[in-house]
Amino acid sequence: MSIIEKALNKARNEKKQTTDPTDYLNEMGKSADELTIPTPAKETKKHIESTTNDNRLNTTLKKQIADIDWVHLNELGFITPGDTNTVAVEEYRNIKRPLVNNAFGKGSEGITRSNLILITSSLPGEGKTFTAINLALSIANERDKQVLLIDADVARPSISKVLGIQTEPGLIEYLESDDVTFSDIQINTTMPGLRIIPAGKQHKYSTELLSSNKMAAFVDELSSRYPDRIVIFDSPPLLAATQGEILARLVGQVVLVVEAEKTMQSVVMESVDKLANCDVVLALFNKSKRNIDGDYYGYGYGYGQYTH
Ligand SMILES: Nc1ncnc2c1ncn2[C@@H]1O[C@H](COP(=O)(O)OP(=O)(O)OP(=O)(O)O)[C@@H](O)[C@H]1O
Ligand SMILES: [Mg+2]
Repeated sequence: MSIIEKALNKARNEKKQTTDPTDYLNEMGKSADELTIPTPAKETKKHIESTTNDNRLNTTLKKQIADIDWVHLNELGFITPGDTNTVAVEEYRNIKRPLVNNAFGKGSEGITRSNLILITSSLPGEGKTFTAINLALSIANERDKQVLLIDADVARPSISKVLGIQTEPGLIEYLESDDVTFSDIQINTTMPGLRIIPAGKQHKYSTELLSSNKMAAFVDELSSRYPDRIVIFDSPPLLAATQGEILARLVGQVVLVVEAEKTMQSVVMESVDKLANCDVVLALFNKSKRNIDGDYYGYGYGYGQYTH
């Protein structure tokens, strides 16, 4: 074998070792959706870019790890990785505590699918998406917690837009096609505890898809196969479409976001009636100018209770 052939063989072997992530997964005995691929060291990354024209690797990495613009999110008032004592972090500590306790702690007894949480509201614009994302970020910021954030507002999705990630394939493609798998739609992010499932394409039978047996089996599997994960669903407003009500029947806990000092009590009560069969419903006052003691503290949040 000539020196050139030897060099070529060596380069081929090196390329194989560095460009096929599935070899690595097989060695570890893990499936793609179970693994957060570690970010390659700078030199390795450079090496990959300079030695291959194989776009498959770049596509795989891009698909599996969404690079979220945390600086932009921070400017919009969202929690970002490593935040420990901002106002939003403190507020969401209080908001998540009862939910996490109901999901895993003593409070979970008697709650079916306690780790699945739906964020909804009566009307558009009350802050569902803002709450769903911040809650997910707040929980994922804890080292030992895993969160899956699902955009189930399939008619008017916005999680992908806010986070700057792909919208398709997502929940709709999974429900519509037997060829689309769970790992095809699940996106890893640079925040190790956070994964996302986008809404997917617009579909004229999206209501039917959300109420299908496949959706019921999907949420059952999410709850039983990943019992240590919190799954947060962003949803449409309850009084604008039936989809919110359909989703509420599938989860263990519902957060009803209420725009403080704006949404009428009669409207909120109508939503509470629609949620009568849910195990746990927490009303979250959003955009409130006062805290519970009556002090003004900006653009805040806090729980209240509605009873029948
Ligand atoms: N507590 C808050 N602090 C700051 N901004 C907020 C807060 N709650 C909501 N917003 C902002 O208000 C706007 C509407 O919120 P959001 O999109 O979350 O509402 P939504 O209920 O999801 O609306 P839709 O029904 O259209 O999906 C967004 O620009 C969001 O960033
Ligand atoms: Mg929304």
